[in-house]
Parts: sequence; structure tokens; C-alpha cells
Amino acid sequence: QKVIKIGLLGAGTVGSGVVKVLEMNRQQITERVGAELMIKKVLVRDCSKVRPFLANYQVTDKIEDILNDDEIEIVVELMGGLNPAKDYMLRAMEAGKNVVTANKDVVAQFGKEMFAKAEEKDVDFLFEASVGGGIPIITPLKQCLTANQVTEIMGIVNGTTNYMLTKMTECGSDYESVLKEAQEKGYAEANPSADVDGLDAARKAAILASLAFNTRVELKDVSVEGITKITPDDIEYAKNLGYVIKLLAVGKETQENGVDVRVHPVFLPKEHPLAAVNGVFNAIFVKGNAIGDAMFYGQGAGSLPTASAVVADVIEVSRDILHDNFGRVRCTCYEEKPICPLEK
Ligand code: NDP
Ligand code: HSE
Repeated sequence: QKVIKIGLLGAGTVGSGVVKVLEMNRQQITERVGAELMIKKVLVRDCSKVRPFLANYQVTDKIEDILNDDEIEIVVELMGGLNPAKDYMLRAMEAGKNVVTANKDVVAQFGKEMFAKAEEKDVDFLFEASVGGGIPIITPLKQCLTANQVTEIMGIVNGTTNYMLTKMTECGSDYESVLKEAQEKGYAEANPSADVDGLDAARKAAILASLAFNTRVELKDVSVEGITKITPDDIEYAKNLGYVIKLLAVGKETQENGVDVRVHPVFLPKEHPLAAVNGVFNAIFVKGNAIGDAMFYGQGAGSLPTASAVVADVIEVSRDILHDNFGRVRCTCYEEKPICPLEK
């Protein structure tokens, strides 16, 4: 039986979930892939932290231990932030390793560079967990919906703020304490201002719009407003009038500019399907000219749900390794000359 060896960069909320999913579903995954998937080394910042779940793994704080290990075929980046995550992923691909990541910062800002490197080195670069946590949305946009011309994509794409708004609406909780709860549950970014200021949702909106409209939408193209200015009074007014407040990401085709992408709080009527998306759940609507309306719903953050998407990508890469089939699905929106309505 072939053993496919993995280098895991980061063992926090999502990294620990990946260890757990690979352990608890080992037999089923091995049967489905036709090979055993084994984490060989784990990179962390602080090796002295006690981490019982890593007792059986080799832990290091030196990236070279992973990049110079020829047995490692897949690098899974779950450290977050732009650098050194981006640098490590580029170096991993340069060394001929496939990369899986949940890092929306890097994909939204440097997608073009990452895909160019993957293409050059004939390796996979997969990022299903970068949007919607456990919800399958990147693969549907890259594959299942490509027969469509997508005219609109809209949804709740940040679990932290949706959790906060839900608790503030349903329990009258105050802003600071619900933000703390979201952090304790592992939903928030290392710097939670990315969540509450709308930047995390904007990164995801840029990725979704790029794939949906086959154009390279960059972070600077997304207009952003977060939830920091929402007061208890706003929430109470909305409630009394039959509305709820949700932070939405919206991408639309327009006559004038080509594509309009924005993130901002919205008053939604209580009957609207997105009004019922509560807590850490996310939902994304896609409107296509063949499929009509499609909706993707599930847990948008958290350890195991996100690990579900990461491990699915690892399985996909493993199948490519076994069948010598790298880079099978190309993301043309990130290529050198994408069709770019924004630049028309
Ligand atoms: P955490 O902060 O929980 O974990 C980060 C891990 O990376 C830690 O183990 C940390 O080491 C390690 N790390 C960070 N910087 C370095 C460095 N310079 N060198 C070596 N190791 C480093 O993050 P999350 O697990 O929450 O998030 C990881 C990624 O997944 C991010 O890109 C995030 O946006 C994304 N994501 C997160 C989701 C979630 O629900 N949390 C959902 C979807 C995506 P140490 O433990 O020693 O500090
Ligand atoms: N901080 C992010 C969120 C994690 O709350 O949605 C998932 O990408």
C-alpha cells in the first residue's frame, strides 16, 4: 500500500482538526484513496507548547525540515496571514510539492502568483477551505457550475460576524462578549478585526467573484463595510420592523463596470432565506443562466467543519499523485490574461 506523506504547517484550530479528521476517518479515507495518508511532520511557531494531540507526530519550528524532506508530497498550509505563509507555499511548490491551504488572504491577494507557480511546477494548489469553512463552494464554482454564465453570487461568508449578529439579535448579548465567545470557539481570525471590519468577508468575496465571473477580482475592487458601527438600537429597530441585520457579500454583473463586488450589513426581511442562516453557519446563493438558483449552506468556520474541506483537498491531491494527473482543473481567472470585465 502506498503511503502519501504530508507536511502540516500550523496546528491551531484548523490544523488540529485536520489531524483529528485524518485519524478518525483513517480507514475509510485509505479505502477511498487507495493509499494511506500520513502526516509526517508538523510545523508550529512554539514547539514548547503542550499539544497532546501531536504526541505521535514529529513537531518542528523549522520550515526547512519539511521543505527539504523529499518524502513529503503534500504541504498543508494552516498558519494564516500573508507571510511567511505565502513564501512557504511558493517554496513548497518550487520543491515540487503539492499545496493545500485554507488561507484566503494569500489566495485573494496573490492567487495569480500561486497558480502561476503551480502551473510552472506541475503541482496542485487547492483552497476549498478558504471560503465557507466546511461548505463545498470553491469546487462547485471551479467544476460543477462551469456550464453556466453566473450573473449573481451572494451570501453570508463570515462565521464570526454571523455568530455575533445572531447572538446580539436573539439573546441581546453585547458586542464585546459575543466577539470573545466567537474567538473562544475558534471562529475568529488571529486578528479578529479582519472579521468585524468585513475584510475577511471581502477576501472571500474576491475569491468567489473571481471564480464565478471568470475574472480576477482583487481585494481593492471590493467595497467593504463591517459590523463595527451596528448598535443595539439598530438591531432592535430591525427586529421591530420585521427585519434582521446580516453581513452580506454580493457580486453582480453590471452593465457599466462589468462586475460589482461589495460587503456590507443589510436589513433582510425575516422571510428571506438568508435571514434564517444563524450562528456560525454560512450560506451562498449562486444564480446561473442554466441552473437557475443554487444555494450552498453549512458551518462556515470551526475546527472539524473546516478540516473536512481541507482533508477533501488532500484526498483530491492524493488521487492526482496516484494517477499522475496534476493541475487537472485550471482556475483561468487567475491566469496571466484573465477575461476581466473590470478592465474593459
Ligand atoms: P490558529 O491561529 O488557530 O493556528 C495557527 C497555527 O499556525 C498555530 O499552530 C501556530 O503555531 C502556527 N503558526 C502561525 N504562524 C507561524 C509561523 N510563522 N511559523 C510556524 N507556525 C506558525 O489559526 P486557525 O487554525 O484558526 O486558521 C488557520 C488558517 O485557516 C487561516 O488562514 C484562517 O484564515 C483559515 N481558516 C480558519 C478557519 C477557522 O474556523 N478558524 C476557517 C476557515 C479558514 P503556534 O500554535 O505555535 O502558535
Ligand atoms: N474567521 C473566519 C470566519 C474563519 O469567521 O468566517 C472562516 O474562514
